[in-house]
Amino acid sequence: MSNNTSTSPKSELSVENHTEVRITPYYQHAGITIYHGDCRDILPMLPKVDLVLTDPPYPGLSGGIEHMNGGGVSERVIHGSKTVGDPWKVRFDEWVKPAVDLSTFGGFFFCSYHSVAELRTLIGDVESAWLLVWYKRNSPVAICNVPRFTSEFIWSYKTSPGLKWRALETTVFDIPTPQGGCMAVERIQDNAGKSVHPTQKPIALIYKLLAVGGELILDPFMGTGTTLVAAKQMGRRAIGIEIEERYCEIAAKRLSQEVLFGVDIPQITKGEPDASDSLFSTLESA
Ligand SMILES: C[S@@+](CC[C@H](N)C(=O)[O-])C[C@H]1O[C@@H](n2cnc3c(N)ncnc32)[C@H](O)[C@@H]1O
Repeated sequence: MSNNTSTSPKSELSVENHTEVRITPYYQHAGITIYHGDCRDILPMLPKVDLVLTDPPYPGLSGGIEHMNGGGVSERVIHGSKTVGDPWKVRFDEWVKPAVDLSTFGGFFFCSYHSVAELRTLIGDVESAWLLVWYKRNSPVAICNVPRFTSEFIWSYKTSPGLKWRALETTVFDIPTPQGGCMAVERIQDNAGKSVHPTQKPIALIYKLLAVGGELILDPFMGTGTTLVAAKQMGRRAIGIEIEERYCEIAAKRLSQEVLFGVDIPQITKGEPDASDSLFSTLESA
C-alpha cells in the first residue's frame, strides 16, 4: 500500500498541519499517521505529543550466546551473537533525547537487560522514571548453555503531570509473546506461514501501557504498527515512523482492517513460540 488514505475532514490536531512537518505521510486516516523514513530525520520535524511509546531495535548486545557450531567439541566455537537489532545500526543516543523532548507527559521505551542502565542515563533529568518488566513466559527455549531469556524491560518516564500512572497496576506484565506457527492468531505471517516481523509485540501489553492515557501517541520505531492499532482501538490518535516500507504496508493494512472489522481485541495466541522472539538471532563467528 502506498500513500495516503487522507482523513476528511482533517483532525484539527493532525500533524500534517504542523508547519515544520515537511514529509508526506505514507498513511493517514482517522487520526492515525504513518511516516515512512528514518526517525532520526523525522523526529526533529514533529510537533509535541502527549506520550511516546516505542520498541526500538536493540543493537550491539554482548555476552549472549556461545554456540558450538555443529555440536562436536572439535568443531569451531562461535562466540557472541548478532542481535535482532544490529542490522538497523541505530544507537540509543541518536533518538532517545529527541523522543523525550517531544513527550509532553512521558513515555515508554522498551529495552533488553543489556541496555537498562544506558537507556536510563539517556532519558535524562525527568520528573520520575520507573522500570517495568515484560515477562514472556512462552519465550523460546535456550539453544545452548545460557539462561532462557524470559524478560524484556521497559523504562517508563514522566516529564510532567497529566497521565494516570496508577493505571499501571503492576510493574511486571505477564503477557505471552505473539506466537508463530500454524496455530498463530496474533502473529502476522506471510502466505508461507513465516512471521513477517522478528519482534512483533503483543497488543495486550501495549493496551496495558496506554492505560495511563495520552491523546496523541508517537511510536518512532513502529514495526508492524502494534502501538498504532492499540491506540486506534482505544480511541486515541497516533503517529508511527518506520524505516522499512514493507512494515509500513503491513501496519497500514492492519489499521485498514480495524476499519472493516471494528474493535477486535486479540486473544492470547496458541501454538509454539516463534524462534525469532529470542533477543539473539543470527549467530556469527568470532
Ligand atoms: C523492534 S521493532 C518494532 C516492532 C513493533 N513493536 C511491532 O510490534 O511490530 C523496531 C522497528 O524499527 C524499525 N527501524 C529501525 N531503524 C529505524 C529508524 N532509523 N527509523 C525508523 N524505524 C526504524 C525497524 O524496521 C523495526 O521494524
